[in-house]
Amino acid sequence: MRTLVLFLLMGIVDVTISQSYSPFQWLSQLRGRRQNAGWYSEAADCPLECDCPTTYPTAMYCHSRNLQHVPYVPSHIKYVYLQRNQITGIQHGVFDNATNLMWVILSHNKLSSEKLSDSVFVKLENLDRLYLDHNELTRVPRNLPSSISRLQLSHNKIAKVSSKSFDRMSNLTTLQLQANVIEELEGGFKDLKSLIMLDIGKNKLRKIPDSLPESLQQLYLEFNKIESVPAGFLTMYPNLQFVRLAHNILTNKGLPSSVFNTSTLVELDLSFNKLEQIPNVNRNLENLYLHANKIKEFSLSSFCDTYDGTNFSKLKVLRLDANKISARDIPAEAAYCLRLVSFIDV
Ligand SMILES: *[C@@H]1O[C@H](CO)[C@@H](O)[C@H](O)[C@H]1NC(C)=O
Ligand SMILES: *[C@@H]1O[C@H](CO)[C@@H](O)[C@H](O)[C@H]1NC(C)=O
Ligand SMILES: *[C@@H]1O[C@H](CO)[C@@H](O)[C@H](O)[C@H]1NC(C)=O
Ligand SMILES: *[C@@H]1O[C@H](CO)[C@@H](O)[C@H](O)[C@H]1NC(C)=O
Repeated sequence: MRTLVLFLLMGIVDVTISQSYSPFQWLSQLRGRRQNAGWYSEAADCPLECDCPTTYPTAMYCHSRNLQHVPYVPSHIKYVYLQRNQITGIQHGVFDNATNLMWVILSHNKLSSEKLSDSVFVKLENLDRLYLDHNELTRVPRNLPSSISRLQLSHNKIAKVSSKSFDRMSNLTTLQLQANVIEELEGGFKDLKSLIMLDIGKNKLRKIPDSLPESLQQLYLEFNKIESVPAGFLTMYPNLQFVRLAHNILTNKGLPSSVFNTSTLVELDLSFNKLEQIPNVNRNLENLYLHANKIKEFSLSSFCDTYDGTNFSKLKVLRLDANKISARDIPAEAAYCLRLVSFIDV
């Protein structure tokens, strides 16, 4: 008995099948078994464990069916969905014929670094997305193709990122490393000349990583153990617009006086830290989150140095709730400086 449920998702048909699957590797070698059942030839070399809908001849769906190995991937396949299985390793050569692969989705498996062959992805010269999140990897896989633009490595057990980890990956735009156990980054990001988004939240960082790429626009570092921000930090990264440092152990002592006063920053999240004063921010900042700190006074000079009616702050959202101030502490002049803020959460 088969139940076939079709979902339309991002323009690609996602086929979920609840059926009796076969965990046996040898079955994946069976070819042509579907030709007599009226399937088009595209599906003829589809592994028995998977589904290759003829309407999407370049996609192969093998997710959520207790697979323990990666099945044979026919050479014409571009998108392979292997998420939510029990895959522990990938043998050398499994993807060697599938050089057209663009997306490899292996999220929510049991992959360990020891069982991941060093060169398993190396021949995939067209690979664009590699999702390896929610696995048991202890290091960044080696020899990743330089064509990758999105790399998902969150929710693993990666402890160290070295300068070789992302060697030559000059097309990478999004790198997700959140929820690992990273304590240190040894200049691992130099080669990432296209990187726009870097998420290293929920790790064990004690300081803000240095030698980040200049292209970076979004830096997410929440839930770490960061105490300070080095002077001039933001001026080194002129494209940074979104910085999230919530749930760290920042104090005012750790923040040089104008470290956040750069005109490019749009959003700054400093909530759930140990700040006692509002840091100086630039007039161009639009969203500032300072809730759940220990702020005792409302210093309007943190936002505007003069209130002459022409130079006002562009701030739209200001959260100050769960601090040691109340609405009474906000001076009347705030209305001139913070004229775009619809209301201040205290
Ligand atoms: C790759 O293709 C070659 C030639 O078509 C074939 O002999 C080989 O078995 C294929 N490899 C895999 C892993 O299927
Ligand atoms: C990087 O991306 C560009 C533009 O999409 C492409 O032309 C180039 O081949 C890619 N580089 C690699 C190494 O794949
Ligand atoms: C931010 O820096 C500018 C100069 O770049 C300066 O005029 C302004 O007073 C500073 N703002 C604050 C709040 O320190
Ligand atoms: C803000 O003030 C500076 C001088 O302090 C001036 O050059 C600038 O034009 C003013 N900006 C606006 C938007 O009025």
